Amino acid sequence: WLGMAGKRGALIVLEGVDRAGKTTQCSKLVQALQQSGRPAEMMRFPDRTTTIGQLIGAYLENKSDLEDHTVHLLFSANRWEMVPLMKKKLEQGITLVVDRYAFSGVAFTSAKPGFRLDWCMQPDVGLPKPDLVMFLQLNPAEAALRGQFGQERYETSVFQRTVQQRFEQLMKDQTVNWQVHSTLTGVGESSIKLDLHCSEMRLE
Ligand code: TYD
Ligand code: MG
Repeated sequence: WLGMAGKRGALIVLEGVDRAGKTTQCSKLVQALQQSGRPAEMMRFPDRTTTIGQLIGAYLENKSDLEDHTVHLLFSANRWEMVPLMKKKLEQGITLVVDRYAFSGVAFTSAKPGFRLDWCMQPDVGLPKPDLVMFLQLNPAEAALRGQFGQERYETSVFQRTVQQRFEQLMKDQTVNWQVHSTLTGVGESSIKLDLHCSEMRLE
């Protein structure tokens, strides 16, 4: 999907349950990359700034209710609307460090009753495939130290446990370059050695 393979930036995704510290690790990673002379920028999904993102934001803040399939498709649409910009930046040689991506989409929706993994994956098929997906593992002891959840939808320990199980299922996919990191040590720049190709997400 890119003309200038070789010089393009890398697409790096951070995934994990809520409170794992993805946002903190994303900014550290961007800083480390920039200091080593590699242009890097952070992105996040959901991107609550767009029209679609505002619908998602209201849903997450419990200010609106949306039907479960509908909100799943909105999360996916919120990624698709960013694809032209993502491709442009990658082509310009900018490495993108992305806070959540399609794996969150699948893990969270499929944690709801009545959702099959393959149905959840379908809308994201064709998105730019990450070169690396770092999963930030939050162990129960560490989670307890972090205290209470926030007030948003999905922020309950019962739901998050199911989400964690869905992530574990997704991590079995050998066609995705998964790396598991502990929240205690975080992600190091040293762990990023990449072979850049240009492919698209597919359905296993
Ligand atoms: P996020 O904005 O990353 O919240 P935080 O600032 O707490 O990290 O994510 C909001 C919630 O949206 C989070 O519970 C995960 C969920 N989510 C989905 O359900 N589907 C998706 O496709 C994505 C990207 C996130
Ligand atoms: Mg959250």
